[in-house]
Amino acid sequence: MSVIFSGIQPSGNITIGNYIGALRHFVELQEEHECYFCVVNQHAITVAQDPASLKRNSRNLAALYLAAGIDPDKSTLFIQSDVPAHTKMGWMLQCVTYIGELERMTQFKDKSTGKEAVSAGLLTYPPLMAADILLYNTGIVPVGDDQKQHLELTRDIADRFNKKYRDIFVMPEPRIASEGARIMSLVDPEKKMSKSDPNQNAFISMLDDESVILKKIKRATTDSDGVVAFDKENKPGISNLLTIYSQLTGESISSLVGKYEDKGYGEFKQDVADAIINTLKPIQERYKNYVNSTELDDILDRGAEKANSVANKTLNKAERAMGLARKRV
Ligand code: AQP
Repeated sequence: MSVIFSGIQPSGNITIGNYIGALRHFVELQEEHECYFCVVNQHAITVAQDPASLKRNSRNLAALYLAAGIDPDKSTLFIQSDVPAHTKMGWMLQCVTYIGELERMTQFKDKSTGKEAVSAGLLTYPPLMAADILLYNTGIVPVGDDQKQHLELTRDIADRFNKKYRDIFVMPEPRIASEGARIMSLVDPEKKMSKSDPNQNAFISMLDDESVILKKIKRATTDSDGVVAFDKENKPGISNLLTIYSQLTGESISSLVGKYEDKGYGEFKQDVADAIINTLKPIQERYKNYVNSTELDDILDRGAEKANSVANKTLNKAERAMGLARKRV
């Protein structure tokens, strides 16, 4: 049984990209592993957030984890800022990370290019992510394809620390699905779908209602040749819709291509929208029951308690190795 850790930022309402690439897999993993799932709100503040929205989005995200099938009796669900060991360890790991390594991260380049003011936190995000993972002796990190580079850096940081101080950290392995690990924007299918995209039509939020989903899919960028075929290079829009459809129904892409051989984009898009609506409807119903309940607070309190007890042990070992701790806990 490996330990699993994964986090999602409450930097907006999560999208079907986050669901297909990450959240959906968490539900299967909790059956066989010790799992920690985190609302990483301290990562979200690396770019400006409205405080009231951040608070609301954090709660919404915790409720969505549960609505999607995370079982609090099997998994530990918690909010990052409820466990102070993350930022303490994040600081220690910053001190064994090189600036050059951080400047090479494509997420930093993507989010900082063209911006007038870029926070130092955006640059130092990866050592905080390394802390999130390493505190729980994590063996497997299920993530979408965009987080692969951060995971590689986490492994480099852990290895450097282990060699320099003491062999404390377990080396985590990324687990990236072979299909659906990068769902693309509906407006610009060359770009990843992101919950913080300023254009609302670029993504389907897990909380969008039926009419909004249908409207966004109908407007999704495609091409003019009218043939439903999978060709990421020449038909990125249709290929992205085929991936979403296949991931949500379990039907293979080749079978879907055969099904729409003589049909136009209109019928295909309607069916893609239906597949999304059918997936999200039961999740949205369960979400409504959780989001305003005191049960959600109880689950998060219990999650924080368990996470603090595990994280503080690893933190103390690392502090002792570095010469920071006065006492053993
Ligand atoms: N488009 C995507 N396709 C598949 N997987 C994705 N993930 C993100 N976008 C896609 C995976 O979702 C998990 C949570 O991501 P995150 O919230 O920690 O941050 P992110 O990767 O930066 O996601 P976003 O939606 O693009 O957020 P913003 O807009 O705030 O930057 C991760 O496992 C990620 O790989």
